[in-house]
Amino acid sequence: MAVKIVGAGKALPRKKVLNSELPKELETSDEWIRSHTGIGNRYVCSEDENSATLGTNAAAQALLNAQSNGCSVKAEDIDLIVCSTATAVHWSFPSNACLIQRGLGASKAAVFDLTAACSGFIYAMQVGRSMLNQMNWKHALIVGSEMLSKIVDWSDRSSCILFGDGAGAVVLERTDDGADTFGSFILGADGKGADVLYLDSEKLKIRMDGHAVYSFAVGKMVEIIQTLMEKDKLTIDDVDLIVCHQANERIIRAAAKRLNYPIEKFPILLEEYANTSSASIPISLVDLAERGILKHGMKILLAGFGAGLTWGGCSLTW
Ligand code: UT7
Repeated sequence: MAVKIVGAGKALPRKKVLNSELPKELETSDEWIRSHTGIGNRYVCSEDENSATLGTNAAAQALLNAQSNGCSVKAEDIDLIVCSTATAVHWSFPSNACLIQRGLGASKAAVFDLTAACSGFIYAMQVGRSMLNQMNWKHALIVGSEMLSKIVDWSDRSSCILFGDGAGAVVLERTDDGADTFGSFILGADGKGADVLYLDSEKLKIRMDGHAVYSFAVGKMVEIIQTLMEKDKLTIDDVDLIVCHQANERIIRAAAKRLNYPIEKFPILLEEYANTSSASIPISLVDLAERGILKHGMKILLAGFGAGLTWGGCSLTW
């Protein structure tokens, strides 16, 4: 059985916040943020928006995209919705996936949320893919949706400047003809790093040791990419794009340099979206596809890392 990505969509809040529009009390600057992170602006939810409305809109767009790609799937045909989020609308329950199911009218679907921080979308794709095969189901929606503005500590200038809100989604289809979209997956975690990036459960604010996350991230990105290359017997010439979790432009550049791979193969989208946690990889894929950079048939690698500490990667043909 083969599982393919047949559609993809993204959704951003209406409001864009430029670096220069951040609160004056932070004593930061556009120059510092750009030179230390590559971020130019981020999208932030208004009162009537949240991680479930964004997730619903991204999923609806992914369904439309699947239909325009010749796949006849409708919301009511979806068997499974997995929503990766660290910022669900409700504390604990109901899941964002339930709200997305309701918003879409995907009445047949089994649904749940999954939390693996910024690595969550890659975890969710592998969970969705496995369940399609195990349950003999045909269609799954995999959503990464976040409203990090809700948990950012707006008095901590070293972390609050990094994050943005947004959502991305893909439609997976199981078919018995053709090749699987996916190659190898890598999923992992090291709970010893649980204290370097976490949500303070009393204040409900992000706490982060930026230097510790940075050095973990560079090493782990290199390891994931090298391992995927070895597992799938690829060389850099076989790979069109390496789409990394968008946390800091310097992390991506450092990984590319350590691997000695051309930086042109590593798309950098931080300027527009900042770090949207588990939404960053699907938002990046859709942005690149919309701009004609990511094309049908391309071989790509995905690599993500996040709080936990967690990580994930996979190779796939778009
Ligand atoms: O999805 C995972 C999420 N987290 C990450 O990926 C975080 C990874 N780490 C990073 O991206 C970087 O470590 C940061 C962007 C968080 C920080 O960059 P840095 O180059 O490591 O800066 P730093 O923490 O070493 O701080 C350098 C200076 C300090 O001032 P002093 O002590 O040298 O006077 C900071 O107080 O920059 C200061 N600073 C700022 N200045 C203006 C820190 N944040 C800011 C700011 N604006 N926003």
